[in-house]
Amino acid sequence: MVKICCIGAGYVGGPTMAVIALKCPSIEVAVVDISVSRITAWNSDHLPIYEPGLEDVVKQCRGKNLFFSTDVEKHVSEADIIFVSVNTPTKTQGLGAGKAADLTYWESAARMIADVSKSNKIVVEKSTVPVKTAEAIEKILTHNSNGINFQILSNPEFLAEGTAIQDLFNPDRVLIGGRETPEGQKAIQALKNVYANWVSEDRIICTNLWSAELSKLAANAFLAQRISSVNAMSALCEATGADVAEVAHAVGKDTRIGPKFLNASVGFGGSCFQKDILNLVYICECNGLPEVANYWKQVIKVNDYQKNRFVNRVVSSMFNTVSGKKIAVLGFAFKKDTGDTRETPAIDVCKGLLGDKARLSIYDPQVTEDQIQRDLSMKKFDWDHPIHLQPMSPTSVKQVSVVWDAYEATKDAHGICILTEWDEFKALDYQMIYDKMQKPAFLFDGRNIVNVEKLREIGFVVYSIGKPLDHWLGDMPAVA
Ligand code: NAI
Repeated sequence: MVKICCIGAGYVGGPTMAVIALKCPSIEVAVVDISVSRITAWNSDHLPIYEPGLEDVVKQCRGKNLFFSTDVEKHVSEADIIFVSVNTPTKTQGLGAGKAADLTYWESAARMIADVSKSNKIVVEKSTVPVKTAEAIEKILTHNSNGINFQILSNPEFLAEGTAIQDLFNPDRVLIGGRETPEGQKAIQALKNVYANWVSEDRIICTNLWSAELSKLAANAFLAQRISSVNAMSALCEATGADVAEVAHAVGKDTRIGPKFLNASVGFGGSCFQKDILNLVYICECNGLPEVANYWKQVIKVNDYQKNRFVNRVVSSMFNTVSGKKIAVLGFAFKKDTGDTRETPAIDVCKGLLGDKARLSIYDPQVTEDQIQRDLSMKKFDWDHPIHLQPMSPTSVKQVSVVWDAYEATKDAHGICILTEWDEFKALDYQMIYDKMQKPAFLFDGRNIVNVEKLREIGFVVYSIGKPLDHWLGDMPAVA
């Protein structure tokens, strides 16, 4: 029986391995982590992450050919194929601080693999890493190997949170990069055989190591760039009276461009886009390509601009002050159908409003109060470290209350900010909400999900990103 071990039981390691176990009943899969609380949760009825369909997959395989454990060394030493799916945060100190990837967790995983291995292994980079990381990993492994042969593969993950299980069941492509030696090709084939259990051959792309590593960074940069492009247009739409939804529709109809990822919003979030672009920027700079670095840097700058612009709209519309006013924040996760708040635009928007002394009442169907308080008091990039290494019980932000109902959040509020596109926010009884709010009642839709006309009929002053402005707002331009 082939044995797989995955180091890192997070958003990628957990779902990916659960699907491999489901689709490959003859393979034994162990997912290991240094975080005891995460592993305990994976072994319980309350999985550590919310992902539609995940629970069902885990329940079908757990205890049969899928195991979650903290006994990292045992499972690594027994495995034939080891996936490494640990955090790769942005460095906060030293060389490359604020840009380069921090490979501390990766390096310690590699050293541990070398220490405990007694048979040949295939080591698979699942984490997103800077191009050429495999070379460093190879050196660590071979210099500590005691004669054991390690083959390094790059197999970046392209799943999107919120649709992870669907994406894993039916991936657009699986990418496997390896050495162009006979041993490297043999290792590629071994991993290909795993995916071939459910992915058709034409969707499995095999490349050299560096192409595979770079393709993941490139894919995230291209995706984020589309969002920043449409968001940049949204600002121009507001200035000119064009409607960004109409522009995006017309542009996306061009088959060379395509319709996906063209929704204007308060900005992109998630654990990967910013981190991976910063990493790409750093790699370009290190390779003497400042023009290329600056090009990609701009994608992040536009994203920051969009978040600032949103906060400024809120404040300037509400008579240039939100001090002491209650603002209801609907949605905190970085997108719908996930409880993940890493780099969510809600953090910057809330911090901006708190900076202007607003009182916030926040509701998200999947995010806990503890998580929101942590996010609002944590330092930039601190989130991307194993939970047990994050700062404990940060002081809670007093002007923030977290409630479990959108109606409770909006009661007596002066304004509402919709920051996540949860379906339930489309179906709220806005008349009832309006009746219980302070007047004039403002609604700022950061995801363009409400029916603007209907809400204006009710009496709301509505701001919707990139849409023709309410007369009220037109008189109060928001300069970022
Ligand atoms: P995560 O933070 O949810 O999970 C990483 C896990 O690794 C943590 O539970 C941590 O405790 C564990 N860990 C760290 N060092 C360890 C060690 N030495 N031994 C055992 N366990 C260790 O991170 P996530 O989101 O799963 O991301 C992992 C990698 O995958 C990152 O490089 C990320 O950029 C990449 N990625 C993430 C995607 C996403 O949607 N979240 C999508 C595609 C790639």
